[in-house]
Amino acid sequence: MPIFFEPQTKIFKLDTSSTSYVMQINKYGYLLHLYYGTLIEDIDLGYLSYTCPHASQLPRVEMESETNPFFSKDTHRMEYSTNGCGDFRGSALSILRSSGTSDTDIKYVSHKIYSGKPKIEGQPATYATENEATTLEILCKDNASGAEVTLFYTVFEICGAMTRHVIVKNTSKKPMDIQRVFSTCVDFHDASEMDFIHLYGNWGIERTFERAPLLHSTQSAESKRGCSSHAHNPFIALCSHDATETCGDTYGFNLVYTGNFYASAEMDSDGGARVLMGINPEGFMWHLEPNESFEAPEAVMVYSNEGLGGMSRIFHKLYRNNLCRGEWKNKRRPILINNWEATYFDFDEEKLYDIAKTASELGIEMLVMDDGWFGNRNSSKTALGDWFDNEEKLKGGLRKLVERVNALGLKFGIWFEPEMVSKDSELFRKHPEWALQTPNREMSISRHQYVLDMSRKDVRDYLFDCIKKVMDSANIAYIKWDFNRSLTEVGSALLETNRQQEVFHRYVLGLYELLERILTAYPHLLLEGCASGGGRFDPAWLYYSPQFWTSDDTDAIERLDIQYGTSMCYPTSSVGSHVSAIPNHQMKRNSPLQTRGHVAMAGTFGYELDLTKLTDEEKEIVKTQCDDYRKYYNVINYGELYRLISPWSNRRRCAWMYVSEDKSEALVTYVIIRCGVYERYYLRLAGLDPNKRYLNEQTGQVLTGKAWMNAGICLHERLQDHTSRIFHLVAVE
Ligand code: DGJ
Repeated sequence: MPIFFEPQTKIFKLDTSSTSYVMQINKYGYLLHLYYGTLIEDIDLGYLSYTCPHASQLPRVEMESETNPFFSKDTHRMEYSTNGCGDFRGSALSILRSSGTSDTDIKYVSHKIYSGKPKIEGQPATYATENEATTLEILCKDNASGAEVTLFYTVFEICGAMTRHVIVKNTSKKPMDIQRVFSTCVDFHDASEMDFIHLYGNWGIERTFERAPLLHSTQSAESKRGCSSHAHNPFIALCSHDATETCGDTYGFNLVYTGNFYASAEMDSDGGARVLMGINPEGFMWHLEPNESFEAPEAVMVYSNEGLGGMSRIFHKLYRNNLCRGEWKNKRRPILINNWEATYFDFDEEKLYDIAKTASELGIEMLVMDDGWFGNRNSSKTALGDWFDNEEKLKGGLRKLVERVNALGLKFGIWFEPEMVSKDSELFRKHPEWALQTPNREMSISRHQYVLDMSRKDVRDYLFDCIKKVMDSANIAYIKWDFNRSLTEVGSALLETNRQQEVFHRYVLGLYELLERILTAYPHLLLEGCASGGGRFDPAWLYYSPQFWTSDDTDAIERLDIQYGTSMCYPTSSVGSHVSAIPNHQMKRNSPLQTRGHVAMAGTFGYELDLTKLTDEEKEIVKTQCDDYRKYYNVINYGELYRLISPWSNRRRCAWMYVSEDKSEALVTYVIIRCGVYERYYLRLAGLDPNKRYLNEQTGQVLTGKAWMNAGICLHERLQDHTSRIFHLVAVE
């Protein structure tokens, strides 16, 4: 079993093929964290539970003699920290009980270990067969409040990842409120030589990578916007100062949640650090009547001693195999043309048909009709919620357009923004109470729209019926599910006062329920998530939609940064990426069509421009790009990613490569951001089999993997700014 319990020492050891995670129950019944890192055979790691001997002012568990060491929750590495009973660092759990106090203290009661992984009811989570994963459940109890707390740990043995989540149950006879319940808490013994990594951003610059030394304070990433957000992604990592792409201790944490989150690393005076991650306690409280339970979302934890690259590859594998699901998990996704940047709101059925016709001639496989096809929607000002054909635009109706597009050999996809309602819409006039709102306060408006109260079943039923009507009216293969504003004035007309703080989370649960219902009814549907670009790109979405629109910034050079950051934990197969027109609509930059193609191929490939305006020469390039993408699809989407040059390293160039799992094939992409006078570069590859010989199809050279990885590809051409090259390497006998 990859999970052991040693009854004498009361030590738990959780192993994957590359990691160990160890904890111990101490003599007072508290769970102490002992170790997380490289796989080690030894189990007797109790000696690691170091106690700071000089802190005489610290609260202790019992009045003992002045012998050292004594047990204090503030200096020990606690497995799941609680509030107000002597651990003064950030707490993972705080329960407000009927006494009005929120001191919380949990002790071990029992545990069980079993093969496989339990579901989290109504929430997305990684899944596993009995052979893939083993789970440990530790039941703890706060005797004063009667809260039972079950800590779940699942190890994915081969893949190397771990997941955690928590259930809190009220076993008392009185109600209680959960003030905070994080999904994971990890206390590091020594983080004094570590860096904190997070992915910050904004519209158009999502998931910007930032790395800085961990300070003696709390560094955090969070969202209070109701979605995981552009501003921060629910991902943080800690790595040693000297960790690189290829080596060094790296710990990644990612929350499978699409709402408000909080993630932090807090370093204390003796260099230890506590990582916390879970639902953001701000704007959250959960009321539990006797016997009721609350299930916190799942946190994914990855450790690698192969640096950031090693960490990312574990995340990618886990998400591809054990988070994405359904028909599209391992099926080649269609190359699509989306009309948003081609037409914005200014289209009709003939315009779309012309684009689709050209697309079919070039080898593109699906037309996606974006915003503006429904109700009275001719700008962003109106009609969200009115999910029926805009007859001025779609003459003859949706069904006719879809049939015509299908007749060209293309699939058809459609845009929705289900969670929203325009102020100027039939739906809002009929049901103003369906929008999120609070008493006596004007609702903030954003992009002329309000947010529907997804915690309400009647709202979800309405949306399901609308989407069903559209789905049943025509042969629709794909939905782009957009979300273009944050949540404000978060209150629900149907909930009692003592449950209003639950609305943020109930909104997310309602969204999950609707997504599940739609996918159950339409199991062949390919869903692509979107939120003003990549404002809700998180693991929860990947459970429902295996791809997410990464950013509204489609400029190839900006995308280098965005896709680099995104690749920290999200696989290439999830990265929505399109070739758009020049000058680029967001940056006004001109980059060659070839580069735009190469960069978009590091994702779910497609186009976002008016194909009918391309020259013949450009059309030939598009045809070749589509063929290339089909040719390289497997290595890009199922291969392993090696980031070779970060776009930030010297702002001159960027490179990455994919290597097939059997190491028989690789695809290398190299982009010049700003060329130099002496542009000669030796691009050393990674991830190949050192002993295999590989043919570089572009240069005709055959060398061993060892040579490609140590001597490299010699790039001596004088490449212009924003130009790119790809190299396809295949193993030869
Ligand atoms: C924001 C999305 O990110 C765009 O791709 C596009 O779908 C617009 N919304 C439509 O309003």
